[in-house]
Amino acid sequence: MDLQKAFVKRRSIRKFKDRPISEEDLEYIVRAASLAPTARNIQPWEFVIVKDKESLKTLAGLTMPNGALIKGAAACLAVFCKDTKYYLEDGCAATTSGLLAATGRGIGSCWIAGDKKDYAEVVRGFLNVPSGYKLVSLIALGIPDEAPHPIKRPVKEIIHREKF
Ligand SMILES: Cc1cc2nc3c(=O)[nH]c(=O)nc-3n(C[C@H](O)[C@H](O)[C@H](O)COP(=O)(O)O)c2cc1C
Repeated sequence: MDLQKAFVKRRSIRKFKDRPISEEDLEYIVRAASLAPTARNIQPWEFVIVKDKESLKTLAGLTMPNGALIKGAAACLAVFCKDTKYYLEDGCAATTSGLLAATGRGIGSCWIAGDKKDYAEVVRGFLNVPSGYKLVSLIALGIPDEAPHPIKRPVKEIIHREKF
């Protein structure tokens, strides 16, 4: 899939088919995420892939109501960053690249809030991630079983030329 198509096609998918995703696809998504830009090229991230059904259920429970959909996902990719100055920007850039890479392979995804959430530390503990790392996002992944079309603001409305 070309890049432009992936940008247009990517949507938050919250319903997945009961089908697995290959290890190769998951590694491809992590690789894409890890190629995102980072402040001073620190690359503060670590990625935890969760595929175990019981663990997915637990993650869904820990992140209710935000992450309830994780229960029906084939996998969940937890994006953590070392607590550096720009950890949030870095982690968000990686998350976006991961979402687009998944779209490119026909895999549905949904960004679930991590940073700022009360459950962030609980999720870190559950996944055995050392303290000092911040949960930036959880990415639910699976074969899409829906095709949502959220309304997007028209480009003409959001572009300002030279000055606001
Ligand atoms: C920072 C951030 C946090 C989000 N958190 C959640 C979440 O906790 N649960 C969820 O279902 N979707 C979450 N989303 C997905 C948004 O709801 C979604 O991107 C938005 O509705 C636009 O739809 P689209 O992704 O299909 O364009 C989050 C997105 C972002 C960028």
